[in-house]
Amino acid sequence: MEGKTPAQSRVIMARAMQPTDANGYGNVHGGAIMRFVDEAGGAAAIRHARSRCVTAAVDHMSFKAPVHIGDLVTVTACVTYVGRSSIEVECQVHAENFITGVVTHTATCHLVFVAIDEAGNPIPAPPLILETDEDRERWEAAERRRATRPRD
Ligand SMILES: CC(C)(COP(=O)(O)OP(=O)(O)OC[C@H]1O[C@@H](n2cnc3c(N)ncnc32)[C@H](O)[C@@H]1OP(=O)(O)O)[C@@H](O)C(=O)NCCC(=O)NCCS
Repeated sequence: MEGKTPAQSRVIMARAMQPTDANGYGNVHGGAIMRFVDEAGGAAAIRHARSRCVTAAVDHMSFKAPVHIGDLVTVTACVTYVGRSSIEVECQVHAENFITGVVTHTATCHLVFVAIDEAGNPIPAPPLILETDEDRERWEAAERRRATRPRD
């Protein structure tokens, strides 16, 4: 199976936050950001595998700064590691205040997706070609996460 670089599957998704994403004070729910991260991460995994992919795990997520209604949230999703059928994706979340132009780092999160066939069984994913020093550093960090990630 032909390999792919992280650049070939990178996804950047952006969306302005709506009142339905937030509480009564205008603060966007963490869950709305998590769903968006899952969508962008899944798109990168599917682009890499060109098959169905399901979310197997979502690592710890800390929210570093609040996001408000009207902010433009951007998720940049990048494949960091590929096992046999699993694909780890790093998602970086930023929020831009449209009026001031100030961009804040909201969160960074790692998710594991698994490439599956139509019956839901794991299938091999294309290998990841590490092109840059950054790709290699991300792979090594992903290997460390994989070694300690709980699975039950
Ligand atoms: C993910 C799923 C397909 C794995 O099936 P499985 O029978 O456990 O598969 P395996 O044990 O052969 O593992 C397959 C791969 O998934 C990885 N994996 C499975 N569960 C994992 C977990 N909780 N965390 C991280 N990786 C996981 C394995 O490490 C393995 O990776 P590799 O092929 O790169 O070595 C299955 O558990 C599933 O369908 N879960 C529900 C997914 C889903 O619907 N998510 C949406 C939210 S409901």
